[in-house]
Amino acid sequence: MIVDGVRLLNFSSNNYLGLANRPELRVAAHQASETHGWGAGASRLISGTTDVHEAFEARFAEFKGFGASLLYTTGYAANLGIIQSLVGSGDYVVGDALNHASIIDGARLSGADYRTYAHLDANALDGVLSQVDKSTAKGKRLVVTETVFSMDGDVAPLADIVEICERHNAMLLVDEAHATGCVGPEGKGALALEGLASRVTVSMSTLSKALGSLGGIAASTESIRSYLVNSSRSFIYTTALPAPVVAASEAALGVLQQEPELVTRLAENSTLMRDGLRAQGFNILASSTQIIPIVVGSPGKTLEFALKLREKGLFTVAVRPPTVPPGASRVRLSVMATHEAADLHWALTVFEEAGKELGIL
Ligand SMILES: Cc1ncc(COP(=O)(O)O)c(C=O)c1O
Repeated sequence: MIVDGVRLLNFSSNNYLGLANRPELRVAAHQASETHGWGAGASRLISGTTDVHEAFEARFAEFKGFGASLLYTTGYAANLGIIQSLVGSGDYVVGDALNHASIIDGARLSGADYRTYAHLDANALDGVLSQVDKSTAKGKRLVVTETVFSMDGDVAPLADIVEICERHNAMLLVDEAHATGCVGPEGKGALALEGLASRVTVSMSTLSKALGSLGGIAASTESIRSYLVNSSRSFIYTTALPAPVVAASEAALGVLQQEPELVTRLAENSTLMRDGLRAQGFNILASSTQIIPIVVGSPGKTLEFALKLREKGLFTVAVRPPTVPPGASRVRLSVMATHEAADLHWALTVFEEAGKELGIL
């Protein structure tokens, strides 16, 4: 990337597979704008639904191994709408302590009682659900977790979570924002990797990260999709995504399906970076994916680190509270399939040099 005229190696994009820059997406968007125009002109339930929306929803559901799927304008809107549809006042949402803000906002908006369990701790989830079971309330239970966590790059213990939800008769929403396109067979996500798709209530993804486009999407059964259509306020009361945007998402899915080696390449690049940074002595938590936190601690030092990296040619961003817990400020790296191995080896030398200069190593 070029920032203020300076060429930098970008480690801060969720365009994990480089699809946002692929000609296939630009061509598809262009063609759809020729046939359908640009703006959708109305919400989905008025006149904003086109054949492009419907075709993509069907294709995405099949890709994910679900019966149906429903597009929202963003991943943020999807989490808001799904949660607000599934639960309300008198119900419970139980979420991982590090869930994304869109999940927390969805829970707040729903009016349900939001409780958290310790990050990745399935036993703690079991404990919270047992407490809820003991209470006099008869409300519904909805468990929500990201699969690949957006700031730590670790992965939820999905098989345990599914089993616990079934035992407590709780619905389960998983957020695959950073998993779709990145992990699992052909990038189908973490659920597909463990063969658990049929055992969750809704699998949410965003199209704005690995798929290089824009939009959120809920994969579920046909009957849950119908229910979301009629109850998700963030779906009903907003203008539909422009057809060219959806056409670009469909083209991205096509590239992904034709070039599964992109997913392999992302995994290889991510392993190279994680192994290298760990060997140098950086604290990268339990990352096992393309998201690699380099935990520094204080916000000031983290900013200094990001600045030093930038002076040396790497674009990274300092992530500080409230996005991450106090004391856990970090430089969050996103590895891409399009990074060249030689660039990654060079970047590792830069991280080490900067880390030593600032006393982080
Ligand atoms: C885990 C998670 N869920 C949902 C979202 C929201 O997706 P979008 O950017 O498409 O609104 C994001 C990203 O911002 C995210 O990291």
